[in-house]
Amino acid sequence: MNAKPNNLDALLDEKRQFGASAEFRKKAVVRDRGIYDKAKDDRLNFWESWAETLKWNEKWHTVLEWTPPYAKWFLGGRINVSENCLDRHLDEGRCDKTALIWEGENGESRHYSYQDLLEEVSRLANSLKSLGVKKGDRVAIYLPMIPEAAIAMLACARIGAVHSVVFGGFSPQSLADRINDLRATCLITADGGYRRGGVVPLKINADKALESCVTIEKVVVVARAGQPTKEFSAEMQNGRDHWYHELIRGAESNCSPEVMDSEDLLFVLYTSGTTGKPKGIVHTTGGYLTQVVATTKCVFDLQEDDVYWCTADVGWITGHSYIVYGPLANGATVLMYEGAPDWPDKGRFWEICQKYNVSIFYTAPTAIRAFMKWGKEWVQKYDLSSLRLLGTVGEPINPEAWVWYHEVIGEERCPIVDTWWQTETGAIMISTLPAVSQTRPGSAGEAFPGICTTLLDEDGESVKAGFLAITEPWPSMLRTIYGDDERYEDTYWSKWNGIYFPGDGAKIDEDGFLSILGRVDDVLNTAGHRIGTMEVESALVDHPSVAEAAVVGKFHEVKGEAIAAFVILKEKWDASDELVMDIRNHVAEKIGAIARPDSIVITADLPKTRSGKIMRRLLKDVAEGKALGDTTTLADPSVVQGLKKQYLSEQQ
Ligand code: WTA
Repeated sequence: MNAKPNNLDALLDEKRQFGASAEFRKKAVVRDRGIYDKAKDDRLNFWESWAETLKWNEKWHTVLEWTPPYAKWFLGGRINVSENCLDRHLDEGRCDKTALIWEGENGESRHYSYQDLLEEVSRLANSLKSLGVKKGDRVAIYLPMIPEAAIAMLACARIGAVHSVVFGGFSPQSLADRINDLRATCLITADGGYRRGGVVPLKINADKALESCVTIEKVVVVARAGQPTKEFSAEMQNGRDHWYHELIRGAESNCSPEVMDSEDLLFVLYTSGTTGKPKGIVHTTGGYLTQVVATTKCVFDLQEDDVYWCTADVGWITGHSYIVYGPLANGATVLMYEGAPDWPDKGRFWEICQKYNVSIFYTAPTAIRAFMKWGKEWVQKYDLSSLRLLGTVGEPINPEAWVWYHEVIGEERCPIVDTWWQTETGAIMISTLPAVSQTRPGSAGEAFPGICTTLLDEDGESVKAGFLAITEPWPSMLRTIYGDDERYEDTYWSKWNGIYFPGDGAKIDEDGFLSILGRVDDVLNTAGHRIGTMEVESALVDHPSVAEAAVVGKFHEVKGEAIAAFVILKEKWDASDELVMDIRNHVAEKIGAIARPDSIVITADLPKTRSGKIMRRLLKDVAEGKALGDTTTLADPSVVQGLKKQYLSEQQ
């Protein structure tokens, strides 16, 4: 069983500090703590000064209206996000500057200048209009990591349609649930996407999803996997389905941007919570763009000649804010890669860094731990001297992985920014500013200027280790959960009065370094992905053999947390390896491969309290092979002892 120290133990001893070089500091976007003072003196004015860097069609009359827990930012302001990400740069002399470099998994490459990107976005925007998509309509986007994903998002933003990107790895059922919750009228997908040499049949999945969606009227299909063969036959339904390339061929490359209200919806992105049903996180326009612009510029120290690469998928919030909106609104050159880091070999990322002279690299700790495992030989084959800044996001980073990132990828030259934020926060909330503060392995640093965080206990008392809390509204905050204000209020605002509860635990040390310790609710963070335990449990009990199920996260060297399931079978079903495999696959089919349990233990009983609640805490102890925690509230303590014995024997 694993006897690894957990992240907390390693963090408690961590005292090392690292700072940027004098040369880095000299040229940095933010060079001193004046920015913190300015934000502290007048927080709203600080955010206003960032909003002023954008192009508004009409200026706001009020910076913030806060009726807890509902915020409105830059009231009265009128603005278009796509105009700010594209047109504005042509006026600022970036016509021929590369906006997007795309590397396909099969080695293809495409470059779009700002002018090219504007034209392509405008063509698609006009095409969507010709299909009847209007301002306020919801458009689902289910695409691989191809330029058309960013183009589709920007085209929706251009005409005022609300996009909802669904990660290409999600199952037909997950796609259908999201489309139905949104009542989306249009879907943009592809015939397929490349992943580790194979093709993910997106259109076939989409067609399956659409069998249970009545609101979709039009489907736009990008031909990525080539002209459809029988195998991937993206059968096109007459009147409903349209090939992307045919649509845009005849479309005008001019499309005037729809002038949007600052609080109009920009997108809805679904994320996992503590119930079985994912939440549609609502983001609006002016405030969101303001905070992503500010954080991209300051945290990543974005300079005019940088080549910026964020390895996230556009299906997650990181892809929205830090592949598309933040960098493009700053006029950056963004790299996008379609495939897996180990295809065709484990040096692929570093080959890409060398090929395109990547200077800023932003990834997740789970990826760093995988690189570590693969060994530095893969890295050292390539020239990484163009790199100057590294970032991490998505989960706590253990100091060992941090130091490896610093030494092997950053060659001890590149500052690391550890950025804490969430789908709900829309943009980075906690991170060091690379030229201003020292960094400490495993610590995200301090709140971004203009963001007010604290640590509280259950009663709202200030503590040094406890729940992370955000005490003031921020521009890119979620506005609600789509169609469910009550759930919004309950989930985030019911713990303390008027204070946002993100669901994370954290500690602050005597030097003011803030370390995020992980989720404190029933949400797992596996390989940087958020999955609700209830979501997996619902998929498990959906299998015909399963009577009851409980899911916990257990420590995993690379993924951070692995999904461990405990299952009680219905009568007449016998445990077998085949059945376990079938149940695992069933979960992957219901939700997507990221939710497939790493282990399933078939048991006759689950540890429950006297009131019948499953004690997941004890199951976690069993799964991690730890001494069992307090069992006094258990209805039958022998259940958990028996389970532990069984678990240990099965793991041998
Ligand atoms: C976790 C991803 C520690 C945290 C942007 C949060 C982190 C959840 C960090 C949100 C970090 C994100 N250090 N933990 N730097 N960044 N997290 O919505 O638990 O996919 O609540 O957004 O990831 O995940 P989400």
